[in-house]
Amino acid sequence: MELRRIGIFNNKGGVAKTTSVINLAYSLQKNDKKVLVVDCDTQENCFSFFMSGKAASSILPTEYENISHTTWGRYCTITEDDISGYDYILFDLPPTMSDEVKTIIKHCSVVYVPTILGEFEIAGLKKVTDEIHRQGVKLGGVFVTMFQPKNDSEIIEEFRRVLQNRLLNTVIPYSKTVRESQKAGLPIEEYFKEKGVPKNKNSWKIVYAYEDLAQEVMRGE
Ligand SMILES: Nc1ncnc2c1ncn2[C@@H]1O[C@H](COP(=O)(O)OP(=O)(O)OP(=O)(O)O)[C@@H](O)[C@H]1O
Ligand SMILES: [Mg+2]
Repeated sequence: MELRRIGIFNNKGGVAKTTSVINLAYSLQKNDKKVLVVDCDTQENCFSFFMSGKAASSILPTEYENISHTTWGRYCTITEDDISGYDYILFDLPPTMSDEVKTIIKHCSVVYVPTILGEFEIAGLKKVTDEIHRQGVKLGGVFVTMFQPKNDSEIIEEFRRVLQNRLLNTVIPYSKTVRESQKAGLPIEEYFKEKGVPKNKNSWKIVYAYEDLAQEVMRGE
């Protein structure tokens, strides 16, 4: 399989870019894919999440055999050979439209855009998708995160009419367990397993949603 470089980007902050990178990486490795996560945020949230010791090399292992991680700065120093074994490279982008971010977008084979269903976020989406096109990169699609049926059901329909097939089928539900899982330093599924959350519980919805997202990403060209 050809290596795919996937950007997760929205210049709006707090729309679950980092959360999506972590849990998408986890779902992809469950599908026997080898994944490299690249933290492009100067805050390096994704990097510290997976940071597993003192290692000095550019690509670091994680607790998950098929997930490695690095930062954009380190990534820029590695060779083609270093990344030849991976199926996917996931870029966790910061919420800015800086020249560096544009460079990273241009480097991707496809970019996915997470969004929450707020008016400001929706209004800003066109700017994001336009920029992706301007860089000559394929838009994999927009996906909704932190979905709350009570508040968001109407607006998502309107959203679908506007975006049409650019909106992914996968919708990531709101779940307070996300924050807890991050506090515990675990992908959501690992956190649920550790806590012994029964699989028939409504709360597993978010795990299944990230599995669906992985399926959509793997199907996307
Ligand atoms: N599905 C969800 N349900 C509830 N809370 C969520 C969900 N996804 C993410 N969060 C929480 O929302 C906050 C923002 O998430 P995250 O850090 O992934 O966003 P981000 O887009 O990477 O932010 P930034 O723009 O600052 O990089 C975090 O506290 C996270 O725990
Ligand atoms: Mg982030």
